[in-house]
Amino acid sequence: MEVNKKIEEDGVIFMSIKEREDGNDKNESKDDVVILAIESSCDESAAAVVKNGREVLSNILSSQIALHTIYGGVVPEIASRKHVEKMNGCIRAALSEAGVTLKDIDAVAVTYGPGLVGALLVGVSEAKAIAFATGKPLIGVHHIEGHISANFIENKDLEPPFVCLVVSGGHSHLVVVKDYGEYEIIGQTRDDAAGEAFDKVARAVGLGYPGGPKIDKAAREGNPDAFSFPQAQIPDAEYDFSFSGLKSSVLNYINQAKMQGQELNQADVAASFQKAVVEVLAQHAIKACKEYGYDKLAIAGGVASNSGLRDLLEKECAANNISFYRPSPVLCTDNAAMIGAAAYYEYKKGVRFGLDMNAVPNLPLGDRERRFHAGK
Ligand code: KG4
Ligand code: ZN
Repeated sequence: MEVNKKIEEDGVIFMSIKEREDGNDKNESKDDVVILAIESSCDESAAAVVKNGREVLSNILSSQIALHTIYGGVVPEIASRKHVEKMNGCIRAALSEAGVTLKDIDAVAVTYGPGLVGALLVGVSEAKAIAFATGKPLIGVHHIEGHISANFIENKDLEPPFVCLVVSGGHSHLVVVKDYGEYEIIGQTRDDAAGEAFDKVARAVGLGYPGGPKIDKAAREGNPDAFSFPQAQIPDAEYDFSFSGLKSSVLNYINQAKMQGQELNQADVAASFQKAVVEVLAQHAIKACKEYGYDKLAIAGGVASNSGLRDLLEKECAANNISFYRPSPVLCTDNAAMIGAAAYYEYKKGVRFGLDMNAVPNLPLGDRERRFHAGK
């Protein structure tokens, strides 16, 4: 993946993410399905053009991270306002980089949940406006189904069924992807999501926001065996996760060290915390593949870009004869190409949303309940 970045006057980073320098296959066929995808569920405004679910013609991202850093986390109101300012530019850039116009696209797809309601609404309104103005079909996509589908982009041979470990800022799920758009959740977090634990520990240890990448970087300099933090196992729900005990244990250690005037070794705390998280994630994922009888494991979500998790799973999968699939780090965190990938399989199944589609901030994974009218 090649990423071109430009910092704008307001601190927002504009990125264009490309799969290969020489671009994609320009041979058009009348059966090609070209989807314009939009994502705005949290603090990234994103638009992409994706052909046949796996070929990314353009992938544009406008990252607001710098604007939220001074507050130590995402401020929903700022996120929504910036989406309003940036989304049209992202869509224009996505169409132009892909060399298409709205006339050439077959459908408009958008994340309609879960996420911050005000942020989601910007993308949803934009997608509905484009669908209404052009008469093109509208497809609502679940954000986490998008994360899972990011695996299809660089792994052209990956087909369901497979096991997927979904670890983001709001979700930690172990899922069997039975078919395109068909998910069975076999484990989930009882409290904090993995990314949330990274963010909270990073703040407590003084690394700041965004926590995941900062812990990942600090951990490389630290000793993962410096502290033995707890790894929760839940009786009777062997695939569920719990990170709140681990988080409290790290916070207690930090508070005690401060009270006793001891100097905190950030790198050692980061490395030991990261080890505790990634070991439990890897253990559950490998066990699920073995017990459910799947020889393919994929990972998805922001935490899937963690180098410790990627290295450990690479090793464990090789030792257990499991093929390991992971998107490039820039496709693990929020982007619109993954939404275009997920939307393609919905499009092929004939899923169409009506213009009454709304943002659903707490949309469950795998939800296929008819909430809105079917579109044409
Ligand atoms: O998937 P994502 O971009 O947004 C959500 O849908 O939540 O995930 C964001 C989460 C944040 O909690 C962030 O700290 C975490 O992913 N994250 C990481 C890394 N990069 C992002 N966690 C651990 N290591 C990383 N390298
Ligand atoms: Zn996400």
